[in-house]
Amino acid sequence: MIFTQTRFSSWEELENAIKHCTRCPLHRSRKNAVPGEGPKDARAMLIGEAPGATEDELGRPFVGAAGRLLTMSLESIGLPRSSVYITNVVKCRPPGNREPREEEIEACSPYLESQILLLKPIVIVTLGNVAGKWVFTRAGMKWGGVTRMRGKVYEVNLLGLKLSVVPTIHPAAALYNPSLRSTLIEDLRRAKEVLEKGGSAQESSGRGTKSLLDYLKKK
Ligand code: URA
Repeated sequence: MIFTQTRFSSWEELENAIKHCTRCPLHRSRKNAVPGEGPKDARAMLIGEAPGATEDELGRPFVGAAGRLLTMSLESIGLPRSSVYITNVVKCRPPGNREPREEEIEACSPYLESQILLLKPIVIVTLGNVAGKWVFTRAGMKWGGVTRMRGKVYEVNLLGLKLSVVPTIHPAAALYNPSLRSTLIEDLRRAKEVLEKGGSAQESSGRGTKSLLDYLKKK
């Protein structure tokens, strides 16, 4: 697979490009593009699929019902939402919340690639199949579906960065099936453990050793 070459070297340039993007037809039906949010030096990055109706309305990721569950799950393990960077594979809402199409994902990919390269996270949590497939494919690994892949921390080389990836279910799945809520929390704990250990990516990302308190940034 050939990955896109267009990348952005500053957050400002990147966010501006996302907000005004016309690279795929999703721009025609969006109210707001949703670049992502969180500290630009966060050690953890959470990646979802695409904005839903509330996100489209507000221009912020994971602020609807599934987002509230994600936020509560993060807070419940002592990893405040304000300490992590949250974004999606696709930055504009697919009509009717359908899954993003392959060509939409490809058109949007330079944005997520640039976000990863600018942030240099120690750990990435993929929320659901679309994000899991995006990350694992780019890391040159086979994606076997979230049910098979979750429950483990993977050490990967992604876009030249060594980092840990924790695949988990999409919060919407846990919203509709409450028995999956402990699964989501268990996996988020795995990501928190990576942060506590300092991650595997320190050398290649040039980050120093930090205590957990350093990771839990306040807004
Ligand atoms: N679902 C997602 O995948 N992302 C959001 O931002 C909201 C819901």
